[in-house]
Amino acid sequence: MPTRTATCWVSSSPRRRPRILLLHLLLPSFAVTTPSRSRPSPSSSSSRLRLRCSGDRIMVKAKAIRVHELGGPEVMRWEEVELGDPKEGEIRIKTTAIGVNFIDVYFRKGVYAAPALPFTPGREAVGVVTAVGPGLTGRKVGDVVAYAGNPMGSYAQEQILPASVAVPVPPSVDHKQAASVMLKGMTAHVLLRRVFKVESGHTVLVHAAAGGVGSLLCQWANALGATVIGTVSNEEKAAQATQDGCHHVIIYTKEDVVARVKEITSGKGVNVAYDSVGKDTYKASVECLASRGFLVSFGQSSGKPDPIPMSDLASKSLFLTRPSLMHYTATRDELLESAGEVFANVANGVLRVRVNHTYPLSEAARAHADLEGRKTSGSIVLIPDTDS
Ligand SMILES: NC(=O)c1ccc[n+]([C@@H]2O[C@H](COP(=O)([O-])OP(=O)(O)OC[C@H]3O[C@@H](n4cnc5c(N)ncnc54)[C@H](OP(=O)(O)O)[C@@H]3O)[C@@H](O)[C@H]2O)c1
Repeated sequence: MPTRTATCWVSSSPRRRPRILLLHLLLPSFAVTTPSRSRPSPSSSSSRLRLRCSGDRIMVKAKAIRVHELGGPEVMRWEEVELGDPKEGEIRIKTTAIGVNFIDVYFRKGVYAAPALPFTPGREAVGVVTAVGPGLTGRKVGDVVAYAGNPMGSYAQEQILPASVAVPVPPSVDHKQAASVMLKGMTAHVLLRRVFKVESGHTVLVHAAAGGVGSLLCQWANALGATVIGTVSNEEKAAQATQDGCHHVIIYTKEDVVARVKEITSGKGVNVAYDSVGKDTYKASVECLASRGFLVSFGQSSGKPDPIPMSDLASKSLFLTRPSLMHYTATRDELLESAGEVFANVANGVLRVRVNHTYPLSEAARAHADLEGRKTSGSIVLIPDTDS
């Protein structure tokens, strides 16, 4: 782990003793080089982690993306935030790579309601543990961990997390890969192995087949022996989807999805449709299903799908489910199983992680604009700025 310079200033109260030693104990990998009674000058590099000893607490200042009002990518601001110490059951991590997911867009726009404004978006990060809460065992400073899901707030140089959501990252998986694959890979695992158990002989339909989740879904479904049909918007994405194991790719801007699926399946339809696009695709997904097929509606990148009348399901005895990853990784055992499957499949080559786009964290707005503009494929990762 690289050594960083920490600048500390201490309470002016004569009863308070400088806490340089305490800093060393909590952050042994940090060289605390500048004990000072004054705040760092504004010109000092903001890439430095700044620590303030205030009473019995050590305040860490870090930079983060903050959303003060809902709206387009431009509402995201790059600001300094103050973090306290990790409390019981918590850890603090210095983030090294942050996964961008469509859910971050939903919260920024207000499609899903954030608990309060302002908030720091993001639900996936990899980082190095820099402090552990009192009494916590099983985690230590220097551990490399990843998390995906709750809490929101990963678009930051530092973050406090419940230790229970952090999983160790195997040394064979680098930080960028881990941040690209944790949330999206666990989603693929849950969709293919638990929501509907894909087996050899099944035919599956995957919308946004070249997207972050889509790319992993296609590769994994192929490895399970399914016939994979993917939909994408253009030729470039079609080429990626083919490399990712799609046996048939439909470019929906040029071809009729329902007609092509009927043709490919000789009129039978697919056993399961994985639909993350929502409003623009759910009707076609229903039409593409075989008798007793499953519509797995797990996202809404084009908007919320309209309600589906029961009678639409009756015609083919269809199943409809709207799963959320959080509900399938609610217990520590479920989380470890899902993350374990993902990292094992990265290590054994079943999943090729496509880190197709990397942006500095401070430019998260650009990443969001590209994601919403359908300009991206595979995963998007934000790298915390070292100099800003
Ligand atoms: N339920 C869960 O627990 C869960 C967990 C993770 C992700 N998800 C969902 O999975 C989906 C994929 O997430 P991701 O992060 O991997 O994103 P993504 O698939 O990489 O990006 C979205 C893609 O969707 C397609 N798309 C179609 N219509 C669109 C529109 N109107 N606006 C924007 N994109 C559109 C585009 O591909 P084309 O250019 O090929 O059309 C675009 O590249 C999202 O809906 C997300 O909410 C759900």
